[in-house]
Amino acid sequence: MEKNNNLEVLISRAEIAERVKELGAEISRDYHEGKLFLVTVLKGAVVFLADLIRNLQIPVEIDFIAVSSYGGSTKSSGIVRILKDLDYNIKGRDVLVVEDIVDTGLTLQYLCEYLLRRQPQSLRVAALLDKPGRRKVEIKPDYCGFTIPDCFVVGYGLDFDGDYRYLADIKIIKEEDLVKT
Ligand code: PRP
Repeated sequence: MEKNNNLEVLISRAEIAERVKELGAEISRDYHEGKLFLVTVLKGAVVFLADLIRNLQIPVEIDFIAVSSYGGSTKSSGIVRILKDLDYNIKGRDVLVVEDIVDTGLTLQYLCEYLLRRQPQSLRVAALLDKPGRRKVEIKPDYCGFTIPDCFVVGYGLDFDGDYRYLADIKIIKEEDLVKT
């Protein structure tokens, strides 16, 4: 049985699959020499990561970092904290940050500054979704799946208050439904 049929689909699972395949090909072309190091931002980006690495034609290593900027709210507080650090040393590595969404950009800005202090050989960002309408700092992902309007989206890893990450499509939650249960 399909879950949460009542939410409007913004990006279907088929569109996501097609775009992730294209991103995988593009990233594979750009990093055909050496081994790419993927830093995935927990938790939302894990679904994107899982699909992306299976669409890469190059060897990669993966690691995870957990940051928090939302604290249970749908609005970014701008306060970023590292909740779980990397397990591996990224000095001299070609690092690609894997994010599910760039909204205000505050998380990504903080994260990039934090990772650059570890002296990687290169640092780029792949984000499945980009919501430029809400940007507070000048930053944009090097690889972007979809540019989306200013609406609250869930599914394919993205949550509202911990829920909906399991949806295969990316769906919209209307403003009036953004009330915690
Ligand atoms: C989301 C997303 C980014 C951040 C983007 O994470 O994964 O890390 O918000 O927002 P910003 O551009 O306004 O900083 P969230 O804090 O919701 O954590 P989660 O991935 O564990 O759900």
